[in-house]
Amino acid sequence: MSDLQTLESSTLTAIAGATDETALEAVRVGALGKKGTISALLATLGKMSPDERKTAGAAINALKDKVNEALTARRTVLKDAALEQRLASETVDVTLPVREAASERGRIHPISQVMDELTAIFADMGFSIAEGPDIESDDYNFTKLNFPAGHPAREMHDTFFFEPDAKGERKLLRTHTSPVQVRTMLASQPPIRVICPGRTYRCDSDQTHTPMFHQVEGLVIDKSAHLGHLKWVLEEFCKAFFEVPNVKMRFRPSFFPFTEPSMEVDIQCRRSGGEIRFGEGEDWLEILGCGMVHPNVLRNCGLDPDVYQGFAWGMGIDRIAMLKYGMPDLRPFFEADVRWLSHYGFRPLDLPTLAGGLSA
Ligand code: DAH
Repeated sequence: MSDLQTLESSTLTAIAGATDETALEAVRVGALGKKGTISALLATLGKMSPDERKTAGAAINALKDKVNEALTARRTVLKDAALEQRLASETVDVTLPVREAASERGRIHPISQVMDELTAIFADMGFSIAEGPDIESDDYNFTKLNFPAGHPAREMHDTFFFEPDAKGERKLLRTHTSPVQVRTMLASQPPIRVICPGRTYRCDSDQTHTPMFHQVEGLVIDKSAHLGHLKWVLEEFCKAFFEVPNVKMRFRPSFFPFTEPSMEVDIQCRRSGGEIRFGEGEDWLEILGCGMVHPNVLRNCGLDPDVYQGFAWGMGIDRIAMLKYGMPDLRPFFEADVRWLSHYGFRPLDLPTLAGGLSA
């Protein structure tokens, strides 16, 4: 039996010497695993005579129990030690500043913010949102909007054209959001009340123009919508958007092929020291174009101009964002510089609502 004693002492020494749970597990496998030393001894029992088996079996099983006990005891010691060590090393320094969550650190781009503001204002007046593709047909961008072929107004749009396709059709990047008016009239029946925010493109670049920019279109069609309604809608919009109790507006005659009469709208402001304030002052600033939808446009979109009438307007989103939030240059809007965004951006959880405030 001295073999058993040697095995016992060597196994218990190994258990006592295991310095972590992985080492201890290796000792356990070496003794009690399928090919372990004690398991090998147990396997010899089968070949013994019944008398031999009685004594040897009892002795080997006693060894097995002892080893198991020692393993359990050692495991507890190691676990406790590991926990102690973690507690000692993972201290929390409560004097450190709180780290901002990602949802707190991120910023909403001023364009997205202004689109959300526009949506909140016009949704409150009963408008819904309509969208169309950036790549448009010449027909929707120009022809159906009453731009005759060869009309100089087409040239004024600095259009990006694609190569003609197999059928000779030349697609383009929409130069304004007005084709969404066409799509809306073709797809639905009056009464129509939509705004259409989105990307637009013209070959132009300087401090206040970028080749890609944003517009929002408005369209109201029913049997009685008139200029008075248009003025009210725009006035309410300007007061809500610029967050002032009153704003004077000036409607100047203008020309757009898709409206008759057409107007450009200026709003009252005060310019002083590079700053602009709205709702006060003696200066005027142009902010949008509008008019009554031209009968030809209604007809082109399947509506009878003797039954239906309505008004529309179009406005540069980037421009009104620059005016409202005092951003002097349009180009950094699209440079993806986080320093600019953290300065001019908006907190992601402060959603603009009329009740809670648009920009506060
Ligand atoms: N589409 C015009 C532009 O991009 C803006 C515009 C003017 C839209 C008058 C309208 C409108 O709907 O009625 O310059």
